[in-house]
Amino acid sequence: MISAPTPPAEGDQIDTTDLPAHVAIIMDGNGRWAKARGLPREVGHERGVEALRKTVRAAQDLGLSHLTVFSFSTENWRRPVKEVNALFGLLRLYVKQDLKRLISEGVRIRVLGTRVGLPTDILALVEEAEVKTAANDTFNLCIAFNYGGREEIVRAAQTIAADVAAGKLEAGAISEDCFSTYLDTGNLPDPDLLIRTSGELRLSNFLIWQAAYAELVFQDVLWPDFGAKHLREAVAQFQNRERRFGGLATGVA
Ligand code: FPP
Repeated sequence: MISAPTPPAEGDQIDTTDLPAHVAIIMDGNGRWAKARGLPREVGHERGVEALRKTVRAAQDLGLSHLTVFSFSTENWRRPVKEVNALFGLLRLYVKQDLKRLISEGVRIRVLGTRVGLPTDILALVEEAEVKTAANDTFNLCIAFNYGGREEIVRAAQTIAADVAAGKLEAGAISEDCFSTYLDTGNLPDPDLLIRTSGELRLSNFLIWQAAYAELVFQDVLWPDFGAKHLREAVAQFQNRERRFGGLATGVA
């Protein structure tokens, strides 16, 4: 008996000439992953860093150029001190352990979010990572850490107001494009694909200006279990969407 050929998995049908310019990920579900195994939440975050490493590799292999991940939100300060400290510790470890390799791979690192409230050693590490990778352009990794979309917008508005008061900017010259350059994402392309893991269906204050026209993909996988397969599936879903940006579908008069 001849069996029917297995259809290729959705993630295998990727058009590498039509990749999203910028993929953003809300890495959700570390706590639930740990709880399901009777482990402390911090272990879930540790496994989350492993998933992040795999995902950066997969994004590079796929030919993506910009990846932004949500690592610590301005609202995450409400968590127990032990968990907040664990997340700070993981950022320290990630930069210390991976920076050399990321530099050699041509990765440019940017850390998005407010620096207010961050410990001085983290500020120094963030600065080191940004400065040492500033000339790289093969792949852009943005780590949103101590990040909140509304806080970012308010901070941009304050800088704009200061520039107008100082005579550096005309109030009438504040366009959407101009405003965007004042955000932490500066001149980066807007994310056109935003993925959230763990089945939750929210943006949670992540890139709320930049994601205005992003295609949203929600996946039923807890972040520590995320890998190349899930990234490819999300990109395949993105490529199957019709993007109209408020216009009409192709062929509709
Ligand atoms: C959300 O899961 C995840 C976070 C708040 C932190 C994400 C952080 C990492 C993946 C690792 C840190 C990486 C670096 C580079 C610092 P959750 O804890 O809310 O999970 P839950 O909804 O299941 O409780």
